Amino acid sequence: MIAARYSETGGSDVLEIGEVETPQPGPGEVLVRLAVAGVNPTDWKARAGATGALSFPFQVPGQDGAGVIEAVGEGVAKAWKGERVWVYLAGWQSPWGTAAEYTVVPVEKAVPLGDASFELGASLGVPALTAYHCLFSDGPITGQRVLVAGGAGAVGHSAIELAKWGGAEVITTVSSPEKAELASAADVIVNYREAGAAEKIGKVDRIVEVALGPNLELDLEVANPHATIVTYAADQPTAELPIRAGMTGNLTFKFMLLYTIPEPSKHDAIGGVSKAVEAGALTTLPLHRFPLAEAAAAHDAVENGAVGKVVIDT
Ligand SMILES: NC(=O)c1ccc[n+]([C@@H]2O[C@H](COP(=O)([O-])OP(=O)(O)OC[C@H]3O[C@@H](n4cnc5c(N)ncnc54)[C@H](OP(=O)(O)O)[C@@H]3O)[C@@H](O)[C@H]2O)c1
Repeated sequence: MIAARYSETGGSDVLEIGEVETPQPGPGEVLVRLAVAGVNPTDWKARAGATGALSFPFQVPGQDGAGVIEAVGEGVAKAWKGERVWVYLAGWQSPWGTAAEYTVVPVEKAVPLGDASFELGASLGVPALTAYHCLFSDGPITGQRVLVAGGAGAVGHSAIELAKWGGAEVITTVSSPEKAELASAADVIVNYREAGAAEKIGKVDRIVEVALGPNLELDLEVANPHATIVTYAADQPTAELPIRAGMTGNLTFKFMLLYTIPEPSKHDAIGGVSKAVEAGALTTLPLHRFPLAEAAAAHDAVENGAVGKVVIDT
C-alpha cells in the first residue's frame, strides 16, 4: 500500500510517502481500506516529537479516518466485511495510523458509519469524542447554558453541534466574522476580542475550554455557581487559578486527554457520537483536502491554524 510514514521525529519533511507492506489484521482486528483521513493537531505534535520518541521502527501518522472494512482477523465476525466505518485513535500505540491506503485496528475502534459521508467519519475521532467527553462526562446537559470557547475550531465545532443535540443553549466565542460564520449553529456567538464579551455571553453552567490561561478571567466572570470548566488544550500551558473565586463559586475545574480517559468514558463517547451522527446532528467544517502524496502539506496546514477541517484523500 501507499502510506505516509516517519522513522524519526521532526519537521514535516521527515514524512516519506511510499510503498509499505499492507498490514494484516491479527486476532480481534480489522483491515480498513481508508477513503479519507482526518488530520488533527496531535498528529503534527507527535510527529514533531512533543510526545516523545517513536515506539516503532516507523510511524504512519493519523488517528482519525473513515473507509470500508476489507478483511477481518480471527475471532471477528465475517459480517463486518464491507461495513462502512469511522476509526479513532488508530495510530495510538500502533504504527498503523490513517495517512495511508489501509489501517488495521481492533474491531472496537471501527465504528459503523451508516450512510454518513467518509469526510464526516474522518472528522469524528479526536474532535467529536473530545467534545463529547467535555460536555457529557458529568451527565446530561439538557437545559444548561454551555459556553464553547473557540467555536470555529475542530473540537469547538463538534462541541457546539453535540451540545445543541444534547438540549443545551450554546454560546460560543470566536475571533472574527469569518469564524463566526463557521460557528453559526450556536445560539449566541461572541467575539472574545471585543469589549463586553462577558455581558454578551451571560451566565453559563459549563464551559468547554480551549485556552484556560487567556480565558480564565472571562470564564470566572460568566460561570454560574457550581459551574464546571473542562479544559482540553495546552497550547498556553499554564494558568494561575484564583482559589478564592473557585471556592466561592463552588466551581469544578476539569482537564481531559482523549487518549487516556477511562475506557467506559471512551465507550460512552463513541455511543453518544454515533447516536448524534445517526440523528444527522453533526456536520463537517469546510474541508481543506490534500492528496496522500501531500501529507506533509496537510500537517503544515493544521500546524499553521488552517480555518476549517484538514483531510487527506487516501
Ligand atoms: N485533550 C485532548 O484530548 C485534545 C483533543 C483534541 C484537541 N486537543 C488540542 O486542542 C487544541 C485545539 O484543537 P482543534 O483541533 O480544535 O484545533 P483548531 O481546529 O485549530 O481550533 C483551535 C481553535 O481555538 C481557538 N482559540 C485559540 N485561542 C483562543 C482563545 N483564547 N479563546 C477562544 N478561542 C481560542 C481558535 O480560534 P481563534 O483563532 O479565533 O482564537 C481556533 O478556532 C489543540 O491544542 C489540540 O492539540 C486536545
